[in-house]
Amino acid sequence: MNNDRNIVITGFMGTGKTSVGRLVAEKLQRSFIDTDEEIVRRTGRTIPDIFAHEGESNFRHIERRMCRFLAAQRGYVIATGGGMLLDESNRAVMLASGLVICLNASPEAIIQRLKDDPTERPLFKGDWRLLLEKRREAYAAIPNQVDTSGKIPDEIAGEIVALWQQTVSV
Ligand code: S3P
Repeated sequence: MNNDRNIVITGFMGTGKTSVGRLVAEKLQRSFIDTDEEIVRRTGRTIPDIFAHEGESNFRHIERRMCRFLAAQRGYVIATGGGMLLDESNRAVMLASGLVICLNASPEAIIQRLKDDPTERPLFKGDWRLLLEKRREAYAAIPNQVDTSGKIPDEIAGEIVALWQQTVSV
């Protein structure tokens, strides 16, 4: 039986990881956790604050620990921060803990989703298109890819549930 494995949703900022993850959790009646929200809850600090005062490398250190902690849990739907699974060892840990799905979106769709989003993203303030290009290969290394452009979250969540059902039925 492998149906208590985690379902891990990753991908670039603005691909819909958090909203889709919540819906997947609802559909499968599982607990949902968003790694950034959990980091904020545990540290009592916002992500921009951690970036500004301790630097990105410290954020990545906290994120690495969070990754290992969550990978050791069972039965969660986890939405990762956009950079978490770029790290090869984080990726390996999550791949071993469950079904990992990478959400993809075009730059136009990303802009549409993030332009009115009040969440502060330090890396979205810089040259995010270049960042997306640089990360393309690492995201592509994730075995399950779901294209989100032009789709509503419920549709994407449905695709993920179908993928999940295929993996537990084999
Ligand atoms: C980051 C994405 C953010 C957050 C941090 C760094 C990244 O999460 O973890 O700002 O490196 O792509 P979202 O993808 O949820 O915006």
